[in-house]
Amino acid sequence: MTAPTPAPTPAPTPAQLAAIPAERIPALLQAMPKAELHLHIEGSLEPERIFALAQRNGVSLPYPSVEALRAACAFTDLQSFLDIYYAGASVLLTEQDFHDMAWDYLIKAQADHVVHVEVFFDPQTHTARGVPFEVVIRGLKSACDRAERELGVSAALIMCFLRHLSGDDASRTLDEALPFREMFIGVGLDSSERGHPPEKFARVFARCRELGLHLVAHAGEEGPPAYIESALDVLRVERIDHGVRCLEDPALVARLARDGVPLTVCPLSNVKLCVFPDLAHHNLKALLAAGLKVTLNSDDPAYFGGYINQNYLDTFAALKLDVVAAYTLARNSLEASFVSEARKAAWVDDLNRVFRAFAQASAN
Ligand code: HPA
Ligand code: ZN
Repeated sequence: MTAPTPAPTPAPTPAQLAAIPAERIPALLQAMPKAELHLHIEGSLEPERIFALAQRNGVSLPYPSVEALRAACAFTDLQSFLDIYYAGASVLLTEQDFHDMAWDYLIKAQADHVVHVEVFFDPQTHTARGVPFEVVIRGLKSACDRAERELGVSAALIMCFLRHLSGDDASRTLDEALPFREMFIGVGLDSSERGHPPEKFARVFARCRELGLHLVAHAGEEGPPAYIESALDVLRVERIDHGVRCLEDPALVARLARDGVPLTVCPLSNVKLCVFPDLAHHNLKALLAAGLKVTLNSDDPAYFGGYINQNYLDTFAALKLDVVAAYTLARNSLEASFVSEARKAAWVDDLNRVFRAFAQASAN
């Protein structure tokens, strides 16, 4: 006889959410289970790790010291960041390097109560330097598997195509990836957005779709709302990475809200790359008010001033967001992930329990 499944914990009621005082929000943001859906693993390479790997591998860097590299991280736009990000990634050569990079991140994710992460990686950044695709993916995948076993963090890989390169280059990358099809769950599109519309990648995304891969794309970070539309219509993506410029097109906002298309928003990234002048001017509140399925993420945490909880804490402080927003964002992140409905339900149950416990403790 199988044991009866425990009844699911109901979502916290509006009264319970209202019972949690504002000063408990930082602790709640830390403790709540969450998914991270927009994280470039090469962007989690801390300067100290970059220099250690450079030494281990005999790679010379265009920066004399950790301090000089940090000082160079005063970005003016996406491209000024990407130039340094690709230089930092040049120290990665061996399977162990990729494993170590991902493991460093996954330990931090666990500390931030990330229960599930969908990790972006940029194979072309490495294969163009002569690092075999197999080295990249085996190193990353072994770290993801280890996280599941040793940290209780679920981690899956999403392979991104670099949009400043050609559609044919992306197709060749997909060919290289095919023997490892079972090691990643989806594909994305990143790098320089302006001047590189989603249409460039229609063919390769169509192939990926036939392979049953999940599809996402960066759009509407620096590029126009039209790129969000073509990511949906031409690439047929399931989520939009960033997407913050959608607010410039009310018809697009209505469509995104109606279809429940998740946006993986990265506030600290947006400020560092001058998409918004500061967090107080970020449009997150307006995105939520428009009924969009927004999630919060860190993008490239080593370069942008913080991991996922820092994004939550700083954004909530700057925009004076409330407990309802905390619940909505965490729940959106779990629901927008590419896992089974059963796994989502289990995590949402944990989320409900954490919020109810905070409400209970506040009532005492
Ligand atoms: N945008 C585009 N490409 C990227 C980013 C980003 O924020 N981070 C790493 N590659
Ligand atoms: Zn990104």
